[in-house]
Amino acid sequence: MTRLAIIGGTGLTSLPGLVISRQQDQQTPWGSPSGALVFGTYAGTEIVFLARHGNPHAIPPHKVNYRANIWALKENEVSDVISINAVGGITKEMYPGRLIVPDQIIDYTWSRKHTYYDDNPGEIVYIDFTKPFCEKLRQHLITAGTECDEINLYPTGTYGVTQGPRLESTAEIRRMERDGCDIVGMTAMPETALAKELGINYVSCSLVVNWAAGKSCESITMKMIDDNLKEGICKVNTLLAKGIPRIVA
Ligand code: HPA
Repeated sequence: MTRLAIIGGTGLTSLPGLVISRQQDQQTPWGSPSGALVFGTYAGTEIVFLARHGNPHAIPPHKVNYRANIWALKENEVSDVISINAVGGITKEMYPGRLIVPDQIIDYTWSRKHTYYDDNPGEIVYIDFTKPFCEKLRQHLITAGTECDEINLYPTGTYGVTQGPRLESTAEIRRMERDGCDIVGMTAMPETALAKELGINYVSCSLVVNWAAGKSCESITMKMIDDNLKEGICKVNTLLAKGIPRIVA
């Protein structure tokens, strides 16, 4: 049986349209998750919602306890996760306001707690990360995205994950572009790999909220990011409302 969770990123500390039935504070062997797990019904489906940065939004990307978050979902029998990520756009199709379902990742983060196999003497586990995201979930979101022109979803892309919390320099973005990155954000890793370690199907729905450093003449402002977030979250909601019934069918 599919049990779906949504991890809300920047701009999505709560999920409009979620009819909440209960909230659950939970401890894990890895510490506390970012906040309570919120259980409820969304688009006719029972789901679990977790605000990655807490509610209110207070935990920066490099301080999120990704291990506790994913562990808490697994303990509640979550099988599938849709992650919402705010990102900067690097390549030309990735303009602000666009939704992307990335298919690849490059990890530039450092010193994050990135595995559950940290302290298990004698146990060495190499997970297959050839395809970081669940292809079945990706296809459900892509199909749902084509049902509605205004969603204007882009079906592939490489997500470069930086450490933050600062944004990048122009040269860093140039290097990331040479590496093959289409979008840049701070939250897809280690979350994606931890979900893989626990056997959870995981997909990212990434919302572009600014041109990455050096990709436009304007400097990047919080206002620009907030404005694009507000507009884009409506698209994310439309996509979720169309995609979730497909995923749990
Ligand atoms: N860089 C990194 N993370 C981000 C950006 C960016 O430009 N925009 C939103 N999250």
